[in-house]
Amino acid sequence: MPNRAFLRALPVFAGALPVFDPDTAADRPDTQFLIWLAAAIEAGVREPHAMTLSTVDPTGRLSARTVILKNVDKSGWQFAGRRGELAAATLTFYWPDQGRQVRVAGPVRAESAELSAADFLARPPSVRSEALTGRSRTTPEQIPYATTGTQVPKEWTLYTVLADEIEFFQGDPDRRHVRLRYVRHGEAWKRGML
Ligand SMILES: Cc1cc2nc3c(=O)[nH]c(=O)nc-3n(C[C@H](O)[C@H](O)[C@H](O)COP(=O)(O)O)c2cc1C
Repeated sequence: MPNRAFLRALPVFAGALPVFDPDTAADRPDTQFLIWLAAAIEAGVREPHAMTLSTVDPTGRLSARTVILKNVDKSGWQFAGRRGELAAATLTFYWPDQGRQVRVAGPVRAESAELSAADFLARPPSVRSEALTGRSRTTPEQIPYATTGTQVPKEWTLYTVLADEIEFFQGDPDRRHVRLRYVRHGEAWKRGML
């Protein structure tokens, strides 16, 4: 079993990593994010669009889980699921092969029933079936016919994180890590090193 000494001996940021020159970063964080996401996809990172979604409930209790990124554009980062009301969230991406982390924070907007339904219906039938029945299927024959149609769970919601602060972290084998932060000022973005 791994013990403390074993864990301490495990490398972090070992081997060749990309060099990130913040002077060449994009003016907008969504653009910079898409550049890094494309690099992760090109490098063959498994589930490069998986991210940790952290939220706080009205009693102040913190919760975090993995969800899939649905879209990124000027308005923000989108995910979907059955989450009820969400005031704010932080999304964390980690691409170990590149030694890169991106943190995206801001208030959350729940999108309309129409957009939420469109997101659900864009999923493959087998995945929809699982979400509707709450069970995993074992064979395609077990997909109830109706669920391959246009049924949508009524709580299914598409959410947009209206990002107002984004941090790009580039790890370095010599610990000269680079952290670039974008902060929203109205329609404009200010960026600076941390
Ligand atoms: C790789 C991966 C992707 C996932 N994608 C989603 C997703 O897009 N939406 C979602 O609601 N849950 C997704 N889940 C499940 C969530 O992590 C979580 O277990 C579930 O949504 C229940 O969360 P809750 O306790 O906050 O309700 C995913 C899990 C994994 C491991």
